[in-house]
Amino acid sequence: MKNILVTGGCGFIGSNFIRNIIDKDIFIFNLDKLTYAGNPENLTDIEGRKEYKPLYKKDICDSDYVARVMDEYKIDTIVNFAAESHVDRSILGPEIFTTTNVLGTQKLLDVSKNYWTSLPEGYKGKRFLQISTDEVYGSLPKTGKFKETTPLSPNSPYSASKAAADMMVRAYFHTFGYPSIISRCSNNYGPYQFPEKLIPLMIWKAMNDQRLPIYGDGLNVRDWLHVNDHCSAIETILKKGKNGEVYNIGGNNEWPNIKVAKRILLELGKPEDLIMMVKDRPGHDRRYAMDAGKIRRELKWKPKYTFEKGLKDTIRWYLGHKDWLKNVINQEYLSYYDKNYNSK
Ligand code: NAD
Ligand code: TYD
Repeated sequence: MKNILVTGGCGFIGSNFIRNIIDKDIFIFNLDKLTYAGNPENLTDIEGRKEYKPLYKKDICDSDYVARVMDEYKIDTIVNFAAESHVDRSILGPEIFTTTNVLGTQKLLDVSKNYWTSLPEGYKGKRFLQISTDEVYGSLPKTGKFKETTPLSPNSPYSASKAAADMMVRAYFHTFGYPSIISRCSNNYGPYQFPEKLIPLMIWKAMNDQRLPIYGDGLNVRDWLHVNDHCSAIETILKKGKNGEVYNIGGNNEWPNIKVAKRILLELGKPEDLIMMVKDRPGHDRRYAMDAGKIRRELKWKPKYTFEKGLKDTIRWYLGHKDWLKNVINQEYLSYYDKNYNSK
């Protein structure tokens, strides 16, 4: 791994990933469209480094441009973070989810396949990692966990588009021998997450003494993983993973949403009556939980953060980044709740 193309590197997980690997003797090319969720400010401390090249306002769907990048920078590894990533937005407008997540992934696969197979050494030393999600497996009842062998059963336009992209990656491996791996991770939290997702939204609302909207009965469960743990899993997979495989990544850390909100309020010293139960999200998946036994056994990866420490650090980070918050929220901020209920 020498010249790595990171797509969507100005988003939440991509920017943390770049920060985590920048010192490891590789060149990073960050191709990002800079949608509402992509913010170059997430990487101001990295910009200017000779090992880092921003390729901003560029779309993974632009095959001609991606082909030039592959060739000019001799790309040998691709980590595809680029996506529309928010379920609520996929309910309000699914089309862009198909365009970026499905078509964009297929175009990336095709351009890189053509470039790599044109080289004398072919696929040798090349790798494509698709960053996917536990949501492709659908929803769990009170018990059980998702395994890599669990059939895909996505319920939202977001998860359907991610599942379709996974199937395309799988097809390129089986049909063309294309060197790819899929990782599927549970819900991430940590610094630089756009404040539309549950944890940063709750922190931001609580910091400003605003009501915290909790969907339905608040008992939907997510398996939370600190973004740095996700990044270390990605690095492990890039180094030791086997082509054609799927690896689940999870925190073994299940929390009902209402408890997460209460915990944040407690940390910030704010009253629980800021919580406001609101109408449920349509098609709301009840529970996600990952069985991450395969990556633990085969690649020797396990998470390091406890939720207690991870959440405290995250809250402290947002408290210390009020300007960042103000900027991204000015750029565009529209939660499903605010759009559908608050504005009426
Ligand atoms: P994010 O929304 O914070 O960032 C997405 C990034 O992709 C942004 O920088 C955006 O500008 C860029 N982008 C969007 N469309 C693009 C396009 N057409 N071309 C180039 N760049 C484009 O997302 P995130 O939370 O960092 O998630 C990253 C990846 O991880 C996604 O593929 C997501 O499905 C997956 N994932 C996220 C989570 C989570 O909890 N956030 C969990 C599991 C998997
Ligand atoms: P989210 O962060 O949108 O991630 P995902 O839907 O991809 O898991 O939401 C996490 C959980 O929090 C999910 O069960 C929906 C719930 N939620 C709320 O209750 N209120 C909110 O304002 C948001 C954004 C999410």
